[in-house]
Amino acid sequence: MDREKKQVTAPLLLAVSVAVIGSIQFGYNTGVINAPEKIIRQFHNETWKARTGEFITDNLSTTLWSFSVAIFSVGGMIGSFSVGVFVNRFGRRNSMLMVNLLAVIGGSLMGFSKLAASFEMLILGRLTIGLFCGLSTGLVPMYIGEISPTSLRGAFGTLHQLGVVIGILIAQVFGLEFILGSQSLWPVLLGLTVIPAVIQSIALPFCPESPRFLLINKNQEEKAMEILKKLRGTADVQQDLQEMKDESLKMMQEKKVTIPELFRSPSYRQPIIIAIVLQLSQQLSGINAVFYYSTNIFEAAGVKEPIYATIGAGVVNTVFTVVSLFLVERAGRRTLHLVGLAGMAFCAVLMTIALVLTNQIQSMSYLSIIAIFGFVAFFEIGPGPIPWFIVAELFSQGPRPAAMAVAGCSNWTSNFIVGLGFPYVQMLCGDYVFIIFVVFLVLFFVFTFFRVPETRGRTFDDISKGFARGNIQGAGSAPQEGVVTLPPSSPTEKVPMVQLSAQEAPNAPLSSM
Ligand SMILES: *[C@@H]1O[C@H](CO)[C@@H](O)[C@H](O)[C@H]1NC(C)=O
Repeated sequence: MDREKKQVTAPLLLAVSVAVIGSIQFGYNTGVINAPEKIIRQFHNETWKARTGEFITDNLSTTLWSFSVAIFSVGGMIGSFSVGVFVNRFGRRNSMLMVNLLAVIGGSLMGFSKLAASFEMLILGRLTIGLFCGLSTGLVPMYIGEISPTSLRGAFGTLHQLGVVIGILIAQVFGLEFILGSQSLWPVLLGLTVIPAVIQSIALPFCPESPRFLLINKNQEEKAMEILKKLRGTADVQQDLQEMKDESLKMMQEKKVTIPELFRSPSYRQPIIIAIVLQLSQQLSGINAVFYYSTNIFEAAGVKEPIYATIGAGVVNTVFTVVSLFLVERAGRRTLHLVGLAGMAFCAVLMTIALVLTNQIQSMSYLSIIAIFGFVAFFEIGPGPIPWFIVAELFSQGPRPAAMAVAGCSNWTSNFIVGLGFPYVQMLCGDYVFIIFVVFLVLFFVFTFFRVPETRGRTFDDISKGFARGNIQGAGSAPQEGVVTLPPSSPTEKVPMVQLSAQEAPNAPLSSM
């Protein structure tokens, strides 16, 4: 890799920074609903009273609230599935520009819901913003992956993940009662998402379209070359161009695989099951119960200033996202996932102890804080980042897009189920609610131990051949070391350090990193 290739130029930096606004938006809207729960419930209550003359029942209040939280994931599900339709027709940059309209509409609906005394507007706004976020989580990593030089693609790809956790943190800070989390200002808190959308819309026209898209999808070589020269800050872009042309050729050669074929073919069935279960392990670990409802949980555990504990969790989350980026190429995906699941299970047990004993022992509120911080830290070590890039690694270029779509859908669906179900389950189980997640975590641990192969340092080809032999152990799971020990792959074929995106394929093959 020559020196020039690694150069971070101003146009590249601008384009990446502008794109990452989309990741921050996703994080913000995930975290924003957490703090103002009580106030928004009271708004539901008052609106209901004004309409029917009666106060809202506990049940209806919970239903309305869970619905407002969880409808976001329905939007995300639809959005993440629609990425392909947008990007191949309008291009990557223009798609990002267009979907900002959804953020403006969604933010406005939420922002004006109080004025209009309409919780329907709030729910509709959450759906719209969910759509936007589903699209963003596909568009941003795809764009970043495609404009970055190969040597920087991994590092820049991590910025998406980092943008998400920082977005969550911003939402938590703004949600403080003396900032925007108050009775009068919560609509501003929810509507604030409009501002980054406007900023991004103004800045995007100054960013280039993805040269990869122009060359591979539109066959506009001249224009692609011009943009590449600006992005790379050098006139010599032949190598980049050649790489894109090779990729284009490879894409034409390899057969595309449809979603039903994934489940029918014996050589794909095993990895697709692993992909789905790993996505479930991420969502059913209970992490979003914490992100959506942590303020409520801390309060139940007797923490005096629950909102600060929530912000602390956001800081831990951000820090460990960075830590895991350094760990993942050293310790192996399978190992980290197992460590993460076990650690989360342990913290969930601690959390239960804290919740149950909080009435007898004052200091239990500290234990609950430690437990939640640990829970979040272990999440970011394993179950947070790993399911995404393992999916990319389990499949070769042909079936990867279909596999990514299935994985994305499983992820948002289970996200929806947790978001909708948690308050009910909490009403039913009370202080023992985290035991359910312990059970899930243990089951996922057992599954990962027996079924998930290690993929670090192996080529995509090698991994899929392991599955084609119908031999999971042959696919390299650690306890069977020595059965088949495969040599580490050449650096150019090394598996990527970060998830580029669920929808990033087929135009930015991870295999060419
Ligand atoms: C609705 O508001 C009234 C009056 O503030 C309160 O007594 C009642 O508990 C509230 N209901 C719910 C479900 O929050």
